[in-house]
Amino acid sequence: MKILLVGGGGREHAIIKKLKLNKSVEKIYALPGNGGMADDAQCVAIDAKDIDGIVSFAVENKIDYAVVAPDDPLVLGCVDALEAKGIPCFGPRANAAIIEGSKVFSKNLMKKYGIPTAKYETFNDMEKALEYLETAPVPTVIKADGLALGKGVIIAQTRDEAKEAVVSMMKDKKFGKSGENIVIEEFLEGPEVSVLSFTDGKTVVPMISSMDHKRAKDNDQGLNTGGMGTIAPNPYYTEEVAKECMEKIFLPTINAMNSDGRTFKGCLYFGLMITKDGPKVIEYNCRFGDPETQVVLPLLESDLLTVMQAVTNGTLSETEVKFSDKSACCVIMASDGYPVSYKKGYELSIPEEIKDKVYIAGAAIKDGKLVTDGGRVLGATCVAESLKEAINGAYKLVDKISFENAYYRHDIGQAALRAGGKN
Ligand code: AMP
Ligand code: GLY
Repeated sequence: MKILLVGGGGREHAIIKKLKLNKSVEKIYALPGNGGMADDAQCVAIDAKDIDGIVSFAVENKIDYAVVAPDDPLVLGCVDALEAKGIPCFGPRANAAIIEGSKVFSKNLMKKYGIPTAKYETFNDMEKALEYLETAPVPTVIKADGLALGKGVIIAQTRDEAKEAVVSMMKDKKFGKSGENIVIEEFLEGPEVSVLSFTDGKTVVPMISSMDHKRAKDNDQGLNTGGMGTIAPNPYYTEEVAKECMEKIFLPTINAMNSDGRTFKGCLYFGLMITKDGPKVIEYNCRFGDPETQVVLPLLESDLLTVMQAVTNGTLSETEVKFSDKSACCVIMASDGYPVSYKKGYELSIPEEIKDKVYIAGAAIKDGKLVTDGGRVLGATCVAESLKEAINGAYKLVDKISFENAYYRHDIGQAALRAGGKN
């Protein structure tokens, strides 16, 4: 089989490495991929948002199956366009990807179907939003409606900060069109859990739970990033919480999307907060998480391509999706200065014997050498019997990798250990 994967980060590298294990896979093309995954896939310089370019490539190269990984192409209708040419795909169509593409949509969906989430108001008029903030409780959370590279959420501690956030989104257009509509919501407290799930629109199969570490610096200090490391499973996701999530969140969400004529097929990511009133949805993503995927897929024991095809074909209920009972830890190595500004172009050295545990997010080949080419450069993942061993193992991998200007957090997994992670 010839497979096309749209995307180019660490998540995509983890998907590719897993797909390659299926013997029927002859070739994987990554559009655009990155230089760091050239051993595992043929990278083709077509942007993930160039839907016409992707479709022409898929048709010309007689692609048998496509996996669309990032949010942008999904929201832009990449799956719809590929399916129109008869190419089976993993990923939701645009009318379902809106669950991530519009926060106003997802909040209204949750309200309509009674799915637990933070209380909220939506605004398309700045004056009305500012007036509302005069009496709104603080801290409060301001969210741009559309995609904003994970940066469209501002937690305001004071009313002044909240007003500033509204002005930056609605008047100064900090996130462009994404901030034309905004959500102002209740500030929730509690540990966060990421649950990625496979769903064919009828059955929903949660994957092993995970915990992201979004802040740039140790002890959750510094700016929000795309994610500086992950562990799985997440100790806060107990069997009891899992049961409650299935009953009150996962199944109701799948049913709600069906009732609205927006059947979701693909990976639906539930960003949850376990509050004192039970689990609530912080956000939905219409795709695999990054870097959650770099700990979740290494723990998947079933064949990924088989599961993905079952999602496409609507046969998920008949397909085994089995996860290992081990633990995993992924430490992200970034360029110092990320997420603001950073230098790139430094040579990367990764010993051959650990390459299967390293997912490359931002690298390029220059003059025959692999060099850094992004903020998040790579993730090193260790799978072990216990969380403690997985953490130690991931940091041992990091010690073997070198590039100038490397930066990483030293405390990935420590919060999970303190919370009683599997020892
Ligand atoms: P998002 O981009 O939606 O994942 O939000 C980024 C982060 O903001 C989340 O991971 C949470 O830590 C935080 N956040 C979002 N919404 C809320 C909320 N209502 N209350 C508290 N924290 C929130
Ligand atoms: N790690 C969070 C995300 O993928 O959105």
